[in-house]
Parts: sequence; structure tokens; C-alpha cells
Amino acid sequence: MNIGIVGVGTVGSSVAKILKENADVISARAGVDIFVKSGVVKNLSKDRGLDIKLTTDVDELLNDESIDVIVELMGGVDEAFEVVKKALAKGKGVVTANKALLAYHRFELQEMAKKAAFELDTAYAGCFEYEASVAGGIPIINALRDGLSANHIESIRGIINGTCNYMMTKMMNEGVEYASILKEAQELGYAEADPTFDVGGYDAAHKLLILASIAYGIDVKPEDILIEGIQNVSKDDIAFAKEFGYVIKLLGIAKKDSDGVELRVHACLIKKDEMIAKIDGVMNGISVVGDKVGETLYYGPGAGGNATASAVVANIIDIARSGKSKPMMGYDKPMEGDFTLKSIEDIVSKYYLRINVSDKTGVLAKVTKLFEENNISIEIIFQKPTSGTCANLLISTHLACEKDIRNLITALEALEFVNKKPVMIRIV
Ligand SMILES: NC(=O)c1ccc[n+]([C@@H]2O[C@H](COP(=O)([O-])OP(=O)(O)OC[C@H]3O[C@@H](n4cnc5c(N)ncnc54)[C@H](OP(=O)(O)O)[C@@H]3O)[C@@H](O)[C@H]2O)c1
Repeated sequence: MNIGIVGVGTVGSSVAKILKENADVISARAGVDIFVKSGVVKNLSKDRGLDIKLTTDVDELLNDESIDVIVELMGGVDEAFEVVKKALAKGKGVVTANKALLAYHRFELQEMAKKAAFELDTAYAGCFEYEASVAGGIPIINALRDGLSANHIESIRGIINGTCNYMMTKMMNEGVEYASILKEAQELGYAEADPTFDVGGYDAAHKLLILASIAYGIDVKPEDILIEGIQNVSKDDIAFAKEFGYVIKLLGIAKKDSDGVELRVHACLIKKDEMIAKIDGVMNGISVVGDKVGETLYYGPGAGGNATASAVVANIIDIARSGKSKPMMGYDKPMEGDFTLKSIEDIVSKYYLRINVSDKTGVLAKVTKLFEENNISIEIIFQKPTSGTCANLLISTHLACEKDIRNLITALEALEFVNKKPVMIRIV
């Protein structure tokens, strides 16, 4: 089988190297030999330490009838979408690691792959695989689409951004402030110069949407769901978490009930004895609860050239083995009925709030009165002086409705002794 790699960067180079270095096991498992016919890059003069033919012209690969599978590893949305659409239309199989592409176009691609499989008679028409798009080296797509296919999926909770997990782990273990950990993560190459995509929760949201499509068949875009990052987590929040047996992590959560599906990405306080709370550093971990199997947990490296390429090559092997397209999301008809996205305001959770107040008589009484007026019952309250005249009130609640918490925050902000917008972290 011949493949063409569109984008021979970190992951693409590792794919080429693994196919060469592990050719013995790979051809035994695939049942055929797999060759990299050529690769596409932007800059031909970069030394990549590879002995494959490179070009800047993607059409060379798309028009080459001897190329069976296009491996899209260029990243981005629009250009990658064009490449993948053309590859499918030409009857080539496609493997991608591109979560951004799938966050926006997965349902259109599923339809195109289905059409190609039906109408075209090339060997790998309609084959479309994307294992590396979520949690790099962890075979979570495979687990969800195939291994757990007998279950109704009750929930997915994922630590699916290594940068955030590295930063939150360091903040928990070393008690340092967000800004200095971000600087360190950037120096180590774990965070980009502009870290917003990771620390703002957007990368995790792209991956969550892919998983939710497999679990619930739900077709929504990143703009439709709640996405918050870790930028507001402070040392005081960490101290509160430690005092009361929590860790703080960025989670992607997909959860269904009779009213619909909740999809959200945000920082969470998680009880420290939960399995998912123990996933530290740059590692990823995903808990999936099925109605028959119970809780299952998947752990491993979520990024890195070799780890990601391991999943890409597994997809190539899978296509070589069967030559048959399978339903991209794992189902051929709506399987869960009409699952709709639940409104953010209807989320029910426990909450933690940090309220910076001027330290005066009567403040606590006025704050707790507002909680009562908004139907929110306090579980723990803790006061921590911040400077001579100010203090942080650290408060956790019993179960409350998101709508009420938002009203409470607006009401708190309006009080003259509340100095900043209160910070809220959901407790799961
Ligand atoms: N890196 C990871 O750990 C990881 C993990 C999971 C998923 N992914 C996904 O894998 C994909 C690739 O990531 P990566 O880290 O390997 O990216 P990368 O190192 O930036 O590589 C991108 C490659 O695509 C080429 N390229 C980009 N735009 C192009 C264009 N318009 N025409 C021709 N070539 C173009 C680049 O050429 P030049 O080399 O000449 O610049 C480079 O070779 C992305 O979708 C990413 O989200 C990556």
C-alpha cells in the first residue's frame, strides 16, 4: 500500500520514521508492505532527516493514482478540509490527526466518506480514520467507537490537554502562581508563545466534540458549548482545594440525561481519590462510563511526535488490513434518538467561589444573604486575608443551578465592598 503524507512536520516525520523502523511488525500486522510514496511540506529546504520524496504541491499526491491513502498532518481547518475532500473524492483512504478540522467538519466528512465508499471502486474508497485527533497516543476513538459499542455512554470526563494538566499539576504540587508556571511551560515547549488555544480550553473543546459525536451523535460546533480555561485559577483556590481534599484540573465533560447532553470544558475541583484526579503532568486521561461496563479509564501521552504517530500508523494498518470503510462515528443511523445540547444555564453542579471583599463588619452577612436569595446553599466557607484591608471569601456550595450561580455572581459584583468579579470553579 502506498501512502502520501501531507504535512511532514513533528507528527508526519515520526509517521515516516515509524513506518521504516518498525516495518517488520507493521507489514506483518497489515498483511501488506506500506510505503511512503511522497510528502508535502511548505519549506523544501528544511532538513528533516528523511529519505522520502518531498514536494510543495499537494495536487501531485492527490493526482497520483498509485497513492492509496492520504495522511493529512498539516493542521489548520480550511486548507486541510480541501485536501481531505479531494482525497475522498478521488477514492483514496484518509487518515488525519487534525482535531480542529474534525471539530468543524466531522459530519460533512462522514457523509463524503460514506458517498465515496458507495460510489467509488478504488481499494480504500471511503476509509477515514482519525484516532490521533483526540489524546494523541491513547486509542480512545477505538475504545469508544468499537470496544464500548454495546453501551449507552453515560459520561465522558477527559483530561485532554497536556499543557493545562502540566500547569495545574505544578500549581497543586508546588503552590506556585499561574503566571510563573505558564512561563516555565513555554520554556519547556509545552505551551505556545500564544497559549490561549490550550489554556483557554479551546483545544480540549475540539477533542470533546469528536468524542461526543461518537458517544451521542451530537453535531455541534465549538461556539455552541461552554468553554472556559484555567487562567483564573489562583494560589488561594489551590489552597482551598488542598484543605478540602480536591485537586483542580481542566476537564472536558460530556454527560447525558433525559433532558439532553451537557458538553463543557472548564477547570474543575475533583475529589482527590477519584481515578481521573491522579492523572498528572503532561499525561492525558479519559474516564468513560458505559451503562453496562461501568467506569473505564484510558491513560497515556496526549501529544508528541512518536506517541501521536503511533496512533496514525495504527489507523494506516487498520485500513490496509480491511480495505473497508466503516462508519466514521461508529453508527449508520441516529442511535441515541434526538439528543440535543443542554443549555449552559440548566447545568446543575456544586460550585466553588472566590470573592475578594473589603474586610469590614457586616460583609459576611450580606454575602450569605445573597446566596440565600438566589436559592444557593453554602457547604463550606473560609476566609483568607489578602492584604491589610481585604480578604478572600472561599465558599463551596451544595448542588445549585448554573443560572442561579450566574445571577448570584452578578449580584455580588454590584456590592460596593466586593473588589473584583468573583471567580467560580465548578465541582464535579
Ligand atoms: N504535535 C502533536 O503532538 C500532535 C498531537 C495530536 C495531534 N496533532 C495534530 O497533527 C497535525 C500536525 O501537527 P504537527 O505538530 O506535526 O504540526 P507541524 O509540526 O507544524 O507540521 C505541519 C506540517 O505541515 C506542513 N504544512 C503546513 N501547512 C502547509 C501548506 N499550506 N502546504 C504544505 N505543507 C504545509 C508544514 O511544512 P513545513 O515543515 O515546511 O513548515 C509541516 O511539515 C495537526 O493537525 C495537529 O493538531 C499533533
